[in-house]
Amino acid sequence: MIYLTRRERFSAAHRLFRQEWSDARNEDVFGKCSNPNWHGHEYILFVTVKGEVNPETGYVINLKELSKIIKEHIIEKLDHKNINLEVDFMNGKMATTENLAIEIWKQLKTPVNKAGAELHSVKIVETENNFVEYFGIKDL
Ligand code: NI
Repeated sequence: MIYLTRRERFSAAHRLFRQEWSDARNEDVFGKCSNPNWHGHEYILFVTVKGEVNPETGYVINLKELSKIIKEHIIEKLDHKNINLEVDFMNGKMATTENLAIEIWKQLKTPVNKAGAELHSVKIVETENNFVEYFGIKDL
């Protein structure tokens, strides 16, 4: 088994808040990420796939193909967008990095399989000091 990681970046706006809470409570729980006038992050996305090396190509996955999958399913939908308002797969979800990682995983799982590898993890760096990693749910 060999692991391969592709890095991509996107800039996006969001706000963490619950409609039914006061601005004060939202700020208390979500801090600066609750600013009513939105704010942005320069996100870094790491997509790791795994599999066996194809003896013909020497690849676990064709990177050109992996990059195209990530661009098409994730980057084009998120880059320079408002995560709360404009991203279909984040509809109705809190725009946290945790939820982003889970939803990005769901978007990528099938296309990565079709390209001949298995999705291993989705890692998102939101700020210099905060990042999230998701490894999916183990098949029983
Ligand atoms: Ni934020």
